[in-house]
Amino acid sequence: MTEKGPMRVAVLVSGGGTNLQAILDAVDQGRIRNTEIAAVISNNKDAYALERARRHGIYAVTIAPSGYESRASYGAALKEEIDRLHTDLIVLAGFLVQVPKEIVEAYSNRIINIHPALIPSFSGKGYYGLHVHEAALKRGVKVSGATVHFVDANLDEGPIILQQSVAVEEGDTPETLQRRIMEQAEWKILPKAIDLIAAGRVSVDGRNHVIIRE
Ligand code: GRF
Repeated sequence: MTEKGPMRVAVLVSGGGTNLQAILDAVDQGRIRNTEIAAVISNNKDAYALERARRHGIYAVTIAPSGYESRASYGAALKEEIDRLHTDLIVLAGFLVQVPKEIVEAYSNRIINIHPALIPSFSGKGYYGLHVHEAALKRGVKVSGATVHFVDANLDEGPIILQQSVAVEEGDTPETLQRRIMEQAEWKILPKAIDLIAAGRVSVDGRNHVIIRE
């Protein structure tokens, strides 16, 4: 990456943006190296994440599916913007729209997502936001956590990059478990994965398993 300059990242968001904030802080503090956050893109104009980006002097834009006639024209517009930014890596940080297939194809193993459970538990269709933690508590698991993975055509099924476990505590509610998983897992492993990718240390082998070089 050195001759090329910093890795250019587009962060896609839908909501509060605490994971985005963890990324911005890690860049500022040198825990993510050789990386420039080129843009924050939201599907929702009211996402507080956009405000966090603007305050940080980062280009922030809304591209909303409702502004397009079809799923295909939305996908094309989003891809055009990502291409225009010369994006090396797309980071989904609480992005609640399924990534259009033309983007998944063009950015193979260059899109990562943070999921608030230990994949393959509590993942796939319907498992987003608090639903994930409701399901984990309902099942009575003693440990949950978070996963950073590459995004492929199937929801939550791409190669796993990093996972961090978090203990479930007596009396947890979906909200308390969500918060503990964010603090102890998501806000740590998402910045860590970006730093590893920027350092060129992450690759995917023939079994679709991630190898992290020392
Ligand atoms: C996080 O729990 C993340 O794992 C999930 O959506 C939530 C986003 O929160 N995919 P935030 O917008 O980063 O605060």
